[in-house]
Amino acid sequence: MTLLATNQDLDPVALRRAFGSFPTGVVALAAEVDGHPVGLAASSFTSVSLDPPLVSISLAAGSRTWPALRGAPRFGVTVLADHHGAVCRQLSGPVAARFAGVPLTVDQAGAITLDEGLERFSCSLYREVEAGDHVMVLLRVHAVDSGAGHPLVFHRSGFGRLERSA
Ligand SMILES: Cc1cc2nc3c(=O)[nH]c(=O)nc-3n(C[C@H](O)[C@H](O)[C@H](O)COP(=O)(O)O)c2cc1C
Repeated sequence: MTLLATNQDLDPVALRRAFGSFPTGVVALAAEVDGHPVGLAASSFTSVSLDPPLVSISLAAGSRTWPALRGAPRFGVTVLADHHGAVCRQLSGPVAARFAGVPLTVDQAGAITLDEGLERFSCSLYREVEAGDHVMVLLRVHAVDSGAGHPLVFHRSGFGRLERSA
């Protein structure tokens, strides 16, 4: 076993690669703003608390979408399914085309969820925490609806599927 070297110069490229070793799912965070769907794909979704029910998503401080989205009364968070690879790329691409052709539902409060998602949460903004070059967005969950299927897995910049060993 080799010891971790101390005083490393933590090069952002190497750090990004190391962080990418940790496999995650991907969610779509979205709401209707001025009559249009606004949102993005995020792999930083994490469950945080059961009481109160909280989840978090870390967004780049330079995100142009979050300032437009953060004033919405409710946000939809959809856990993407394994067939959502192309949709996920679309949701992180050019803003005007992010939701083109994507089957979605807008609830009465403006939360947008993807119809074929594994889990669909309706959330409101609970707290924002500055975290370096990101902002940790804590969301309070108000409702959840479960679908069927398998999750999209994001690992080392690519998509995969979950393979169960037992
Ligand atoms: C698989 C995947 C995961 C992503 N996860 C995040 C994330 O957790 N946080 C984030 O700020 N952006 C994430 N992005 C990038 C956003 O989807 C989006 O491209 C980015 O926020 C730039 O768009 P914006 O300026 O409209 O916010 C991810 C993109 C992909 C393809």
